[in-house]
Amino acid sequence: PETGPLSIIVLGASGDLAKKKTFPALFNLYRQGFLPSDQVQIYGYARTKISDDELRDRLRSYLVHDNGASPEQLDDLSKFLQLIKYVSGSYDSEDGFCLLDKDISEHESKKKSAEDSSRRLFYLALPPSVYPSAYNIVLICCICFLFLAGGWTRIVVEKPFGRDLESAEQLSAQIAELFDEPQIYRIDHYLGKELVQNMLVLRFANRFFLPCWNRDNIDNVQIVFRENFGTEGRGGYFDQYGIIRDIIQNHLLQVFCLVAMEKPISLKPEHIRDEKVKVLESVLPINDDDVVLGQYEGYRDDPTVPDHSNTPTFATVILRIHNERWEGVPFIIKAGKALNSRKADIRVQFKDVPGDIYKCSKKGRNELVIRLQPSEAIYMKLTVKKPGLEMSTEQSELDLSYRQRYQGVTIPEAYERLILDTIRGDQQHFVRRDELKASWEIFTPLLHRIENGELKPIPYKPGSRGPTEADELLKEAGYDQTHGY
Ligand code: BG6
Repeated sequence: PETGPLSIIVLGASGDLAKKKTFPALFNLYRQGFLPSDQVQIYGYARTKISDDELRDRLRSYLVHDNGASPEQLDDLSKFLQLIKYVSGSYDSEDGFCLLDKDISEHESKKKSAEDSSRRLFYLALPPSVYPSAYNIVLICCICFLFLAGGWTRIVVEKPFGRDLESAEQLSAQIAELFDEPQIYRIDHYLGKELVQNMLVLRFANRFFLPCWNRDNIDNVQIVFRENFGTEGRGGYFDQYGIIRDIIQNHLLQVFCLVAMEKPISLKPEHIRDEKVKVLESVLPINDDDVVLGQYEGYRDDPTVPDHSNTPTFATVILRIHNERWEGVPFIIKAGKALNSRKADIRVQFKDVPGDIYKCSKKGRNELVIRLQPSEAIYMKLTVKKPGLEMSTEQSELDLSYRQRYQGVTIPEAYERLILDTIRGDQQHFVRRDELKASWEIFTPLLHRIENGELKPIPYKPGSRGPTEADELLKEAGYDQTHGY
């Protein structure tokens, strides 16, 4: 592993994302020895005028009360908090950044020995209103460029990466003027989830799946995200984006890539990302008949949401891939807020058995389910003989529930794993510029049709399964609905 001073700079340090995700992930990495105190300094930067201690107190309170730091962790927590400094400044004037740069340079010169190089990781946990402004990125860059003596500078950027193809491309071009692609880590936290990371292993390290992962055997694939709460205080942000930009174009499309892509020639990040781009580029334009949008009743009661908002909080979209493996196999992508449960899973539904002497299809088809959350699990639904004297069949499951099988193993938080990757310089689980472009190419025409009012969301009751039209869409297309959602 590399040594030398490591400065982690969290921009937007007083915001929600930093408090709930970035700092807890850093704390977990610290506890596991990945952030050695003799090398690391963490900086919080934001506009809010608070002191080092005020930021530490806020973080302590969150980590103890909301994030459940155990009593044994309190000692570590105090040491961790001592690694954090806070600098207050705006994103549109150089003063704060100069101050920050001075502090970082001092830290580097104190910790650096002759053979060491310095490492600077900038984490942009910024609100969308600040983030796209090229200006702050230029400023961030100024401090990065003041420092060129070996080592590295990397930048972690959070979605939203633009609003459509054009704005995303503009943003990409701005960043590309200042940083090279290997320095840019576009984070999509779904790529850090245990079972998302398991997807390629499952597909390519198991002989079972290799020969049947295609249109000859698979009837349809469903990638479903549901939350049982609404936008809860984020209505203002959410209304600018909607469920397609918030969940589908990024999180679920990344999952889709891993399910549908061809086998990469190696595990090198570039080989994997090359295949993701190829499958994204093979997706056909989305047909309006393959879309159902919804908006939960009460969404507009949020004072930050306009009274006539047309923003969908629910969407089912069928993606169709034009290639040899998947021609004719619908990929049903579904995401919704304020539904009846919180769950994210992938369902691969197989075709009926040809020449079915047991009439198994009446009882349900073979299905492979990968439950991303909660309670990670992989299970296969299959037909077995019902135990007993009679010869009859029933559906049962081969069940790999992680909680049972891996008792005592802590599954790392997505952010923890991804931040460690950024320090190690592994870009496999980050979105490359061309992937981003290809994903916006898929959704931009649909998003524009929604914005022009050509497609409207259907109201649904909070706590329901979403608009019944979404179920109709699946039924009409003849999909198996026996899994009892
Ligand atoms: C975020 C979205 O990216 O992902 C949120 O902005 C959503 O709206 C969240 O709630 C879901 O993440 P997770 O890991 O809780 O499924």
